[in-house]
Amino acid sequence: MCLVYSRAPGVLLLLAHLLLRTSCSLEPTAEWEREPAYWNDQARRMLQAALTLPLRAHRAKNILLFLGDGMGVSTVSAARILRGQMEGQSGEETLLAMDTFPYVALSKTYSVDKQVADSASTATAYHCGVKANAKTVGLSAKAVAYECNTTFGNEVFSVLHRAKAQDVSNATAEGVILGGGRMYMTPKGTPDPEYPSSSSRKGDRKDKKNLIDVWLSARKGRNAQYVWNKEQLNAVNVKTTDCLMGLFEPKDMRFEVFRNRTRDPSIVDMTEKAIQILSKNPKGFFLFVEGGRIDHGHHDGVAKLALTETIMFDQAIQRASELTSESDTLSVVTADHSHVFTFGGNTPRGNPIFGLAPKKAEDSLPYTSILYANGPGYIHVNGTRGNVSAVEHFSEEYMQQAAVPLESETHGGEDVAIYAKGPMAHLFHGVKEQNYVAHAMAYAACLEPYTNCPLRLQGSGGCKITLSGPLVSITGVFWLVMR
Ligand SMILES: *[C@@H]1O[C@H](CO)[C@@H](O)[C@H](O)[C@H]1NC(C)=O
Ligand SMILES: *[C@@H]1O[C@H](CO)[C@@H](O)[C@H](O)[C@H]1NC(C)=O
Ligand SMILES: *[C@@H]1O[C@H](CO)[C@@H](O)[C@H](O)[C@H]1NC(C)=O
Ligand SMILES: *[C@@H]1O[C@H](CO)[C@@H](O)[C@H](O)[C@H]1NC(C)=O
Ligand SMILES: *[C@@H]1O[C@H](CO)[C@@H](O)[C@H](O)[C@H]1NC(C)=O
Ligand SMILES: [Zn+2]
Repeated sequence: MCLVYSRAPGVLLLLAHLLLRTSCSLEPTAEWEREPAYWNDQARRMLQAALTLPLRAHRAKNILLFLGDGMGVSTVSAARILRGQMEGQSGEETLLAMDTFPYVALSKTYSVDKQVADSASTATAYHCGVKANAKTVGLSAKAVAYECNTTFGNEVFSVLHRAKAQDVSNATAEGVILGGGRMYMTPKGTPDPEYPSSSSRKGDRKDKKNLIDVWLSARKGRNAQYVWNKEQLNAVNVKTTDCLMGLFEPKDMRFEVFRNRTRDPSIVDMTEKAIQILSKNPKGFFLFVEGGRIDHGHHDGVAKLALTETIMFDQAIQRASELTSESDTLSVVTADHSHVFTFGGNTPRGNPIFGLAPKKAEDSLPYTSILYANGPGYIHVNGTRGNVSAVEHFSEEYMQQAAVPLESETHGGEDVAIYAKGPMAHLFHGVKEQNYVAHAMAYAACLEPYTNCPLRLQGSGGCKITLSGPLVSITGVFWLVMR
C-alpha cells in the first residue's frame, strides 16, 4: 500500500495529493477519499472561503466577457474530467479556471421567436441587453431576418459600443480584433497569404473592398498593426501598439487539436496579447473572448473536438485571470446556448471520458458514456446500432452515437451557466434571462443606461491601487491551494 491520508491542511495536503498521484498507480477511487475527514476538511475550507468572500461592491474598471459558443453545463463537466484525465488524474475532482469563480447564475437562452436559440439572437441578448429573433444580430425583435427594410430604427447597442462611446479618451483608445476570417475582408479573388495557391480560400468580397486597409487607414497617426501569423503576433510590441488586427486563417481558426502550433496562435496567445495592449488604458477596457469552435465540434457530433476547444478556452480564462486583478476587473464566463450532448451510463469513477459504459445495452452492444440526442452520429447497420467496440472511439474524429439522424447536431434548449468574479460579480446569481448579462455588466461599469449608478472605482479619490508582482503571485498560490 502506498497511500496514507494526510491531515495537513492546504498546501501540504495538495503536495501530498500530487506526490501520491504521481508516485504510484491508484485504484480508481483514491484511498483518502474513503476518509470522512478528507471530505469534511475540504468542505470546511470551501465554507471558510464562502464566509470570507469579499463583497466587491464597487465599480469595475475592466470587463472581460468570455463566451463559450455552445458550452452547456454538460460540456463544462465533461471538459473538466477530460482535463483531469489528460493530467493523469481520475478527472472528476479537477477544477477548471471557471470553476473557481465565486458567483454563478443560470441563463435562460430562448429567443423571442425560438425555444431553442441560435448564436445570433443570443449574442444580441448578452451583448446588447435585448432578446431578439433568430438570425439577427444587434437588432430588436421588431426586425425580422431576411427583411432588410425592418433593420433601420431597430438597432440596439452592445455594452462594448457603450463603453467606447463613453470613454472620453476614445480618440486614443486601444483596440484589438483577433481571430479567423481573412477571406471575408479582401476583394473577390485576392490570393490568401498563407495558402496562395488555394482557389477556395481567395478573397470573397463582392464589393471589392479591402477591409484590412480600410481599418488601417481609419487609424492613421496611431500605431495600428495588421498581422496574419503567430510569428508576427509574437513580434507585436504591446508597449507601442495601440490597435491590432490579427486574422490567422481564411475562414475559421482550426480546431485546437489540428492547430499548426508554429504558424497559428492559440486562443490563449490571442487573449494574452489583447490584455497586454488594452490594459495600458488607464480608464480601463472591455474585452470579449469567444471560444467559437466548441459549437462546431458539437455540430459535427465529435465530442473530442468540442471538449478540447473548451479546455483551451478555459486556459484563456486562466491566463486572463493571471494578467488582471479581481479587485478591478469583472470577469464573466457564459455560453450562448447548449447542445444535445450528454454523458452517463453508470460509469465508474475515473472512467475515460470517451470510454464505454460498464454494461452492454438491451441490444447486447456496448455504448459510449458520451452520446448525442441527434446528429451525424446516427449510424445503423441493417437496423442495428453500430458496434462501438469495433471502432476507434478514442480518436480525434470519432462521432459519438446519436439517437436521431441529422446532418448537423443541434443546439440544446436548457439553461447555461454564468460564472462571475470581480466587482459586482454578485449581481450574477439566481435564474436570469440571458439579456440580463449585458445589463449587469453595464451597471458594474456605470455604462449606459446606468451612468448614474452609485458605484465608485475602488481607491478613486484616494490612492490608485495598482497590481503589483507580489499580489499576482499571492493570487496564484491561493488558486493552487484551492485546487
Ligand atoms: C418590407 O418589404 C417587404 C417586401 O420585400 C414588404 O412586403 C413590406 O411591406 C416592407 N415593410 C416595410 C415596413 O416597408
Ligand atoms: C469621443 O467621444 C466624444 C464624447 O462622447 C464624442 O463626441 C466623439 O465623437 C468621440 N470621438 C470619436 C473619435 O469617436
Ligand atoms: C506549420 O506551419 C509551418 C510554417 O510556419 C510549415 O512549415 C509547416 O509545414 C506546417 N505544419 C503542418 C503540419 O502543416
Ligand atoms: C445486411 O443484411 C444483408 C441482408 O441480410 C446482408 O447481405 C449484409 O451483409 C448485411 N450487412 C452488414 C454490414 O451486416
Ligand atoms: C463488437 O466488437 C467487438 C470488437 O471487435 C467484438 O469483440 C464483439 O464481439 C462485437 N459485439 C457484437 C455483438 O458483435
Ligand atoms: Zn451552433
